Amino acid sequence: MKAVVYKGPREVGVEDVPDARVERSTDVLVRVTTTNICGSDLHMYEGRTDFETGRWFGHENMGEVIEVGDGVDKVQVGDRVVLPFNVACGHCKNCERGLTNYCLTAQPDPHMAGAAYGFADMGPWAGGQAELLRVPWGDFNCLRLGEDADERAADYVMLADIFPTGYHATEMAGVSPGDQTVIYGAGPVGLMAALSATIRGASKVMVVDRHPDRLRLAESIGAIAIDDSQVDPVEAVLEQTLGLGADNGCECVGYQAHDPSGDEQPNATMNKLVQSVRFTGRIGCVGVFVPQDPGASDELARNGQIAFDQGLFWFKGQHLGSGQAPVKKYNRQLRDLIAAGKAEPSFIVSHQLSLDEAPEAYQHFDARDEGWTKVVLKPAGV
Ligand SMILES: NC(=O)c1ccc[n+]([C@@H]2O[C@H](COP(=O)([O-])OP(=O)(O)OC[C@H]3O[C@@H](n4cnc5c(N)ncnc54)[C@H](O)[C@@H]3O)[C@@H](O)[C@H]2O)c1
Ligand SMILES: [Zn+2]
Ligand SMILES: [Zn+2]
Repeated sequence: MKAVVYKGPREVGVEDVPDARVERSTDVLVRVTTTNICGSDLHMYEGRTDFETGRWFGHENMGEVIEVGDGVDKVQVGDRVVLPFNVACGHCKNCERGLTNYCLTAQPDPHMAGAAYGFADMGPWAGGQAELLRVPWGDFNCLRLGEDADERAADYVMLADIFPTGYHATEMAGVSPGDQTVIYGAGPVGLMAALSATIRGASKVMVVDRHPDRLRLAESIGAIAIDDSQVDPVEAVLEQTLGLGADNGCECVGYQAHDPSGDEQPNATMNKLVQSVRFTGRIGCVGVFVPQDPGASDELARNGQIAFDQGLFWFKGQHLGSGQAPVKKYNRQLRDLIAAGKAEPSFIVSHQLSLDEAPEAYQHFDARDEGWTKVVLKPAGV
C-alpha cells in the first residue's frame, strides 16, 4: 500500500510500505477514504519530536471496513467508520472512566499512558495517511456513520480529532450559555473550539491569531477576530468584556507559539490567557506541550518548561485543564449534531487532495501559507 512516510525534518514521501492487515482477532481493517493533516503532524514533520523516520503519519482517519477479525461483534464489513485518534482498549482503568486519551493498554511503555495512530511517543500504531489502516479493539474504537458518510465526509472526518478536541477545550474551560470566551489560535483546533463554544451557547467568542484567512473563518461562524499583529490581544479582550476579562479561555496553539514575527515564545499564549480571563475563570489547554523539546531555542523550553505566570494565575483563582482530548467522550454526540445539520465543521477545509499530493500539502500547511487552512487527503481517490 502507499503511505506518507516521514523521511526527516520537513521531508515526507509517498512510498510503498507493507499492507496493514488484521493481526489480532479484535482488529478491524479499514480502507482509508479520508485522512487529514493536523497541526500535531507538523510538530513531528518539523523534526521537533522523536518520531522515527520510515514510519508514517495520520491520526485523523475515516474509511470503509473491509475486513474484521473473528472477535469483532458489532462492526461489519462495509460499515463507514471514523476513528478517534486515540487508540484505546476500552477495559483498562483509564478507559473504564472514559479517559481513552490515557489508555494504559494501547501504550506499551509502562511509564506512559495514551496512544495514537502515527504519532511520536504514542505507541507503535501505524498512521492512516495510507491506503489501509489497522484499527485495534475495533468494536470499541470504530464510530459508525450513516448513509451520508461519503457525501459529508469532510464534516465527519473532523470527528477523528479536531472537532472533539476543540469541544474538549471548551469543556475543560467550562463554557456555558451566555459566556464570553477567548480562544488563542485560529488553526483548525482553535476554529473547532470556536464552533464548539458557539454550540454551547457562548454569547461572545473572541479568537486571537495573525493569519487573515484563519481569522476570516472565525468571523464566518460569528466569532470576533483579534489580530495580534495589529493590537494587543489582552487589551482587546478586556475592551470586549467591560474590563473584566473573558469568562473562560482556550489554548489552541501549543509549545511552538510565537510572536507575529515568528520568534518562538512557548509561554506566550498561556500567560496571555491568564491575563485575558477573569478572576476565577477556567482555561482549557489542548495545544500540545512536550516534556522535552531539544530543538527549542532556550534552556527552559528544551526541558519542556515555560516561565508561567503562576503568581497572577493563583491571585486570580483560575483553573486549568490540559492534555490530549478523550475523543470518544464526545464523538457520538458531535456526529449526531453533524447528521442533524446543526454543525458543519468542514467550513475550515481548504484543500481535498490525493495521497500523492501530500508532500506539497505538508509544505504549504507547515508554512501556514495563505489559504491553506485544513488539508483533507483522499487515498481512495478525490
Ligand atoms: N490535545 C489534543 O488532543 C490535540 C489534538 C489536536 C491538535 N492538538 C494541538 O493543538 C494545537 C493546534 O493545532 P492546529 O491543527 O490548529 O495547528 P496550527 O499550527 O495549524 O494552528 C495554530 C495556530 O496558532 C497560531 N499562533 C501561533 N502563535 C500564536 C500566538 N502567540 N497567539 C495566537 N495565535 C498563535 C498560528 O498562527 C496558527 O494559526 C497544536 O499544538 C496541536 O498539536 C492537540
Ligand atoms: Zn490531529
Ligand atoms: Zn485502555
